[in-house]
Amino acid sequence: MPSLSTLVSLAAVLVSVNAQSAITTPYTPPDPSQGLKASGKSTPNRQWSNILGNSLYFYDIQRSGKLPADFRVSWRNDSVPNDGKDVGIDLSGGYFDAGNYIKATLPLCWVMTQMAWSGLTFGNGYNSAAQTPYLDRALRQGMDWLLQASSVDGELVVIIGTEKTDNVYFGGDQNIPAGPSDRPAFKVTRNNPGTDVTASCAGAMAAASMLYSGQILPAATSGNQEPADLQDDAYAASLLSRAKMLFDVAQNAQPQQVYQKAVPQVAWAYASTDYTDELVLGAALLAAATGQSNYSSYAQDTYNSNGYPLTSGALNWDGHGPALPVIMTQAALAKPQLGLNANKYRADAEKYLDNLVSKKMQGATYTRGGLFYVKGDSDDSSLNPALNAATLAVLYSRLATTSQKTQGYLSWASSQVDYTLGNNPANVVYQVGLHPNSPKNPQSALATGSFTGQTSNIDTDPPTERWVLYGGIVDGPAKDDSFSDRRSDWQETEVALDTVSPMLVLAAHRLAIGETTDPYYVTLTADVNIVDDGGLSTGAQVGIAIGVVVGVLLLLAIFGFLFRGKIRERRIRRRQAKHIPLESHQC
Ligand SMILES: *[C@@H]1O[C@H](CO)[C@@H](O)[C@H](O)[C@H]1NC(C)=O
Repeated sequence: MPSLSTLVSLAAVLVSVNAQSAITTPYTPPDPSQGLKASGKSTPNRQWSNILGNSLYFYDIQRSGKLPADFRVSWRNDSVPNDGKDVGIDLSGGYFDAGNYIKATLPLCWVMTQMAWSGLTFGNGYNSAAQTPYLDRALRQGMDWLLQASSVDGELVVIIGTEKTDNVYFGGDQNIPAGPSDRPAFKVTRNNPGTDVTASCAGAMAAASMLYSGQILPAATSGNQEPADLQDDAYAASLLSRAKMLFDVAQNAQPQQVYQKAVPQVAWAYASTDYTDELVLGAALLAAATGQSNYSSYAQDTYNSNGYPLTSGALNWDGHGPALPVIMTQAALAKPQLGLNANKYRADAEKYLDNLVSKKMQGATYTRGGLFYVKGDSDDSSLNPALNAATLAVLYSRLATTSQKTQGYLSWASSQVDYTLGNNPANVVYQVGLHPNSPKNPQSALATGSFTGQTSNIDTDPPTERWVLYGGIVDGPAKDDSFSDRRSDWQETEVALDTVSPMLVLAAHRLAIGETTDPYYVTLTADVNIVDDGGLSTGAQVGIAIGVVVGVLLLLAIFGFLFRGKIRERRIRRRQAKHIPLESHQC
């Protein structure tokens, strides 16, 4: 007979396992060839379920630290056990931010907020596709790390690694340079505040705590809505109490400022433009989670005194402005006792969304293939502003004041999702592993399987990546709709936590509304149109190139002779510019 103490410890194990929702239907991504198989009319739609499942699988691939025993990604290993040692905190877990191995808190908090938001609004989408247990695991991986990063009162770790960490190593997960100078942790504190990142972390935790306490954010002005099935009240309570601590710091620590003023070491990677948007988003989520009027008043006052709503601009890890009236509407409806004016926020939300539908947004254009393109923000990450705007269109769709607007928002969102999933001049399906036309060489050190680990061989070692980075969404095509599937082309092929998170919202939405139409790529049988920067086919390029090269060589010979010193200088600068892929992560 087992002793009492054995039984007690067994019970403790069961309790801690039970805290996580059980995986009843294990999911691993199907081969990309399955992307050509129609699902039929049954629900949940198999292809949309795969998009949601693969998107969550991507977060498994990006995990850092010790991996669980039943881990799905066979080619990943435990990594960076010493992260955080320099500040006395175990920060080995969490996620690698993008194609390389830094960890970055500001984009992570946005990603976690978006992930929680998708579950709060479209929980039945996750439930119906049997993806809720994976949502649970993906959220905890981020939240547990944020709880660690904020475990010292008044402090928050904001980045692990430096520009050098990002630049010198492109190998696998077992030899990541991990000396103290390779992976230092930097933090903001009550005396040296980072208002934006602290408020953003508070918002993410408040959103997750709502989800874990079985709450929802309304997707419509009336009717019942099913929560995501992952309730864990104890976890919800610890997240909420930490969210309150952090928001208190964001609200009261002086001066309120962008976090790179406190920690200049983040500026190369993720400098923030403004902190008022994070304050409003964080306060609104705390108001929705708690029903406390101190948060709703602060959200409302900060919103009013900083010129919101925005009628244009990009929604992304840095700029949350366009999302604010949507979350304020949902908070107003979730907690009517707060007396927030839902109709004012609905009118505000529609100013931005109507500008999308009318295609008359200031500072935004559309590519010839139809991709929403925000000048500046879209240049290095063309799909991100489009997909993020689409999330607002679907999150808000059923809250619209007229059914005509609902239809307009949904069809605008569909146009951007269709573009991403293959309805574009390059015939590329921009999520990795979904379809034969998905990218093969996203900029990901993990998936590449380089033998040398050298950044200088990024495109050739090996020529095609060793592992499929299922679920990864690349930055996207150039403004002329051309795409080059090359790892060194970081503006097009880089993948990051925040390039995938909008798809969680978009796929969960389709599943939540019982979509029966397959995503665009299922009927896409045309070959990838290899267009490279000039926007022309390979054949045309070769033809033109031969003609041009002869002429140019002649000219170069003349100029080279006349300006020898100058040409050498230019060539050096271009070589430096080629290293930029690993130096910048501004998505
Ligand atoms: C994980 O370890 C195996 C075995 O050593 C190795 O072959 C593989 O490349 C590692 N994975 C990554 C992502 O580095």
